[in-house]
Amino acid sequence: MRRLSHFLLLTVVLAAVPRPAHPLTELESSQIRRFQDYLRICTAHPSPDYAGASAFFLPYAASLGLGATTLHFTPCKSKPLLLLTWPGTDPSLPSILLNSHIDSVPAEPEHWIHPPFAAHHDPANGRVYARGAQDDKCLPIQYLEAIRGLQAAGFAPPRTVHISLVPDEEIGGEDGHEKFVQSEEFRALNVGFMLDEGQASLTDEYRVFYGDRLVWKLIVKATGAPGHGSRMFDGAAVENLMDIIETVAEFREAQFSKVKAGKKGPGEVVSVNPVYMNAGTPSPTGFVMNMQPSEAEVGFDIRIPPTEDIEQIIRRIEEEWAPAHKNLTYQLMKKGPVRDVAGRPLVTQTNESNPWWSVFEHAIISSGGKLAKPEILSSTTDARFVRQMGVPALGFSPMINTPILLHDHNEFLEDKVFLRGIEIYQHLIRALSSFKG
Ligand SMILES: *[C@@H]1O[C@H](CO)[C@@H](O)[C@H](O)[C@H]1NC(C)=O
Ligand SMILES: *[C@@H]1O[C@H](CO)[C@@H](O)[C@H](O)[C@H]1NC(C)=O
Ligand SMILES: [Zn+2]
Repeated sequence: MRRLSHFLLLTVVLAAVPRPAHPLTELESSQIRRFQDYLRICTAHPSPDYAGASAFFLPYAASLGLGATTLHFTPCKSKPLLLLTWPGTDPSLPSILLNSHIDSVPAEPEHWIHPPFAAHHDPANGRVYARGAQDDKCLPIQYLEAIRGLQAAGFAPPRTVHISLVPDEEIGGEDGHEKFVQSEEFRALNVGFMLDEGQASLTDEYRVFYGDRLVWKLIVKATGAPGHGSRMFDGAAVENLMDIIETVAEFREAQFSKVKAGKKGPGEVVSVNPVYMNAGTPSPTGFVMNMQPSEAEVGFDIRIPPTEDIEQIIRRIEEEWAPAHKNLTYQLMKKGPVRDVAGRPLVTQTNESNPWWSVFEHAIISSGGKLAKPEILSSTTDARFVRQMGVPALGFSPMINTPILLHDHNEFLEDKVFLRGIEIYQHLIRALSSFKG
């Protein structure tokens, strides 16, 4: 008991010891404060405060002398898209677009150690806790503060630099980036390269994403002869459905084993996960137990790397996962673009064939950073819409040595990591906007 209480006491004391003193400068403190101010504007679904975010960013951009345009792609103008512009000295060159989404997913406050919209800055460990701290409300503050730093250094960008702040990414981007890239306004920007959000890295290497997986939904329905629960016969609906669930599970295991073995990243395989099953004949006390039902269905979430052979996957679904001869039918919902305007897969090259890649890579190295092997993102971002237009785009959030907490409870970003990100963007914006290719 004594040992235990000593141990507890020690733990408490350790937690209360302040971090080694690297006091924040006045500028750094003000940058953290701006980050907190933005996080305190609740832009979480289902009712993101887009008006509040506009009211925050418009004067902020004006204070840096940036141009600002508000675009609307909905009739009631409730989902503004803000476009902030730092004009280049050579407007004939294609521009640089720095993107981030304004909205975030909801939070369940009861699971958080600090309220999710208070943006509490913990002096003990430097963490700023808030929904959106990583995904992705750090980005626009880092973009803008990097511009502040470059202006202070007297830098004038040859290429125009635009920052887009877009609504609805977390609900599919239909009224946000998807319509934006189709607009006349987007065409007029003449975007040559875009940076969008990425993900935190557990190590000291920055992660970068050159593609997003496609999001498909598959519902397989089985019909068959109904029968007494006691009778064994061929062709029952649930029986046939269970067979194909087994077939899908084998495919899933083969894909997953490549990830487990470290041969492929989680975004580089096809994932297929059952998300619901529906069968049975309801009764007042639950389900009729002595009857085999005539219908059953299962739903799958499927994610596909953009480099995958799409036709082959569709054939697999038709012939193996929902064959008509087993009384199965299917409904396949394919969301979002699959190929770009030139018919190419939606990936951005990460070798010499793409000069923007080299500029990006060198900027990270010149900032003193290390890059991990480029990855395909497991989920999706707005970058897919821009890649669809044939514009190269990379997903990047400068967060190293940070747990991956997007959409999780207690999402946080450490102040030092956030501030280092501003330096990284200074290198990136300087290099990208100066690129003469
Ligand atoms: C398909 O359904 C019919 C009628 O419901 C049934 O008689 C037949 O055995 C089923 N076929 C298969 C292959 O399950
Ligand atoms: C760049 O990578 C792509 C895809 O991996 C490959 O097809 C292409 O040949 C590479 N180009 C160069 C110049 O290495
Ligand atoms: Zn995001």
